[in-house]
Amino acid sequence: MSAKAIYLILSFYSLMICVISHTPDNFDSMDANNPPKNRLRVGKNSNVSKIKEMTVCAFSSYIPKLFLPFMVLLSRADLLGCKSVNSPALLLLSLICVLSLGPVPAAWAADPPDLVVADFEGDSYGAWEVTGEAFGSAPAQGTLPGQQQVTGFQGRGLVNTFRKGDRSTGTLTSPPFTIERPYLRFLIGGGKNEVKTALVLEVDGQVVRTATGPNAPNAPGGTERLETDYWDVRDLAGRQAVLRIVDQATGDWGHLNVDQIVQTAQRPVRVAPASREIPVTAKFLAIPIRNGAPKRLVTLQAGGRIIVRNTMELAEGEPEWWAMMDVEAWQGQTVTLQVDQLPEDSKALAAIEPTDKFRGPDPLYREPLRAQFHFSARRGFHNDPNGCVFYQGEYHLFFQHNPYAMAIGNQHWGHAVSRDLVHWEERSHALLPDERGLMYSGSAVVDTKNTSGFGREGQPPLVIVHTVAGNPTVQSLAWSTDGRTFTKESGRPVLPQITPGNRDPKVFWHEPTGKWVMALYVQRPRAGKEKADPQKPLEQRHTIEFFTSPNLKDWTPASVHEATQPGPAPSWYLYECPDFFELAVDGDPARKKWVLLGANTEYAVGRFDGTTFTPEAERLRGQQGPPNVIYAGQSFNDMPDGRRVFICWWLTPTPGMPFSQSMTLPMELGLTETAAGPRLTFRPVRELEALRKKTHTLGPLALAPGDKNPLAALDAELVEIRAELEPAGAAEIVLRVRGGTVAYDARKQELVVNGYRAPAPLKNGKVKMTVFCDRTGIEVFAADGLTYLPFAFEPRTEDRSLSLTALGGTANISSLEVHELQSIWERP
Ligand code: FRU
Repeated sequence: MSAKAIYLILSFYSLMICVISHTPDNFDSMDANNPPKNRLRVGKNSNVSKIKEMTVCAFSSYIPKLFLPFMVLLSRADLLGCKSVNSPALLLLSLICVLSLGPVPAAWAADPPDLVVADFEGDSYGAWEVTGEAFGSAPAQGTLPGQQQVTGFQGRGLVNTFRKGDRSTGTLTSPPFTIERPYLRFLIGGGKNEVKTALVLEVDGQVVRTATGPNAPNAPGGTERLETDYWDVRDLAGRQAVLRIVDQATGDWGHLNVDQIVQTAQRPVRVAPASREIPVTAKFLAIPIRNGAPKRLVTLQAGGRIIVRNTMELAEGEPEWWAMMDVEAWQGQTVTLQVDQLPEDSKALAAIEPTDKFRGPDPLYREPLRAQFHFSARRGFHNDPNGCVFYQGEYHLFFQHNPYAMAIGNQHWGHAVSRDLVHWEERSHALLPDERGLMYSGSAVVDTKNTSGFGREGQPPLVIVHTVAGNPTVQSLAWSTDGRTFTKESGRPVLPQITPGNRDPKVFWHEPTGKWVMALYVQRPRAGKEKADPQKPLEQRHTIEFFTSPNLKDWTPASVHEATQPGPAPSWYLYECPDFFELAVDGDPARKKWVLLGANTEYAVGRFDGTTFTPEAERLRGQQGPPNVIYAGQSFNDMPDGRRVFICWWLTPTPGMPFSQSMTLPMELGLTETAAGPRLTFRPVRELEALRKKTHTLGPLALAPGDKNPLAALDAELVEIRAELEPAGAAEIVLRVRGGTVAYDARKQELVVNGYRAPAPLKNGKVKMTVFCDRTGIEVFAADGLTYLPFAFEPRTEDRSLSLTALGGTANISSLEVHELQSIWERP
């Protein structure tokens, strides 16, 4: 291209930029000609940022825009016949100016920078004037005591009028400022009331704009999230204005959250309620989720009724995973999904589709971190097993389920059934959250004598007793006569709230007294710590309260078992999810003891007379793996053969998966006599033997240090290894399973799993060990069930090796069997 052509293009381009940047626009010219005078900032660095802002403004638009055409014209005036000037240096400078303005369209669209009116990052409200108590004396730093988590604000500080709760009132008023941009944008959340919980703009003493939060008082649900809102203030250009934040409401949602008030030339994207009608042409609606995206309240409506409200992190653009909303019950009808707040340009609702197939990069149950012989929910997050019961020929495993996120929330009762305790089939949810609250943990019984009256002649009902966590938090019933559809008895709770932290009823039939018994966790304040945060369990007392009932509906308080006695030390002992059952010591029907467990499996052994538990040994350690690696276990009621089968939530990381974690193996519990008294034993249930697809018998053998690995020829992904070890001269026997280590330290008589130690005493110089290795963890059972050590661990996919070594001397391996297992998700 000739120099003249470049010169002409540059001249034209710079002229255009000049023209565009000076087209009449109140706000732009205001910016160029009137450097900001009375902008308000509430924040530590307000002056610094003001200077920075002005400098950036001048250099980014003012100077280049003004001088560019002259510089260009001057630089090669010789090309226009004017011989006197020919300055390559000036041309270069113009080029730099052009480049500094970015690509053409961006330069043309260049907006004046935002003016921050207030970001509430300072340790005072600065020049803003406070009245009343609701605002305190300085911006809040996030969530206030007793408040749901506040999210969506920027930085650390914000206006949060929940000081002293909803009942406080007050105002916060800005000094006057000039409207210098077309839009006034802000983040707002909290109560919905255009007058009483509002952000107000006043000009000449008149209210010209108002905005409020999204939460109508006394409506179920609600969120403390701040969202973007804005006012178009073009008609007020150049006017002096005042902002006032008002909190005159004292009841439900009687507070407002405000942050980041900015004058801007860019039209902001507002969030507003949105909805979509969807004809149900399949079993599920696939809903795009991005973990960590803003939480939206999504309401499903069908047949003119609100069916359920859930909080969802709806994905804009590519979802991280698809949640599956079960809409089978409305096949052929049209349902409405309504979202409380969505950006105006959101594509999330449009992306929702009816489908029969579970969406994801991997087929269902074949995901890389899907446990292959441990139960896990198809999609979403599960925690506690609930309502474990044998009913009408099937084992029922209900579970705390959040179908729409990878964290606890939206508690549904998920449901799976099995004929053998091993192969599970997930069904539709049994209980959905409702206007009373979330469906928290609980248990299920078969009401064989139909004491509740929910059954019919010859058709005893399955009755669920569980917590409804709302305000108040109460115990309620639901029932079924087919094990598939569940009806809530949602009128009267069977047990009113004792304290807000009462939950997780474990109910069973007590034959000797002919009554139902409930063991309920009740969190109570510790003496002297009445004001402690109820969300901090270690600052609370853990009590198990017993109730009795003739019919599952009317409950009478029987006794309170105080977990915090003796000794005041705070602990997790008997914290939430109690389980309570009787076991025969070493199978002797004449020696039965009661076992009371809390969620972390620490337990007490003692006596129970139908009303009161009298412990004989307390604070005993249950599982021996890392603290809380398994949690909230529950045993099955109404087992056909009297076994006590227990299953727990197993916290095995499953990053990047469309589901979360798994349950443990079902285990048979027992009590065995030890020198210290009767102690719990854990053994994998015998039904698991059905998973063995190939068995290698490799013992007995003597194993000396340096010997050939007896397991060298094996190669398996899912394994069960059973061995009886007699360490004899060996100091340690080390089994390596796909990169994980299960060692037996003979000197200390300890099991060491990936470095984690637990006692496993030798008996007659021998110890038996059973190891199960799945895709997300190892479970080790040893010392006749006295040691149960679950360990979250992710074997490398390509490592399918096994080895057994003796260290420090020769060991006798009295027996050694390796079973290759098949997945429970492959139908037998
Ligand atoms: C235990 C627990 C229970 C509660 C449930 C809610 O993990 O906190 O106490 O009922 O989870 O999902």
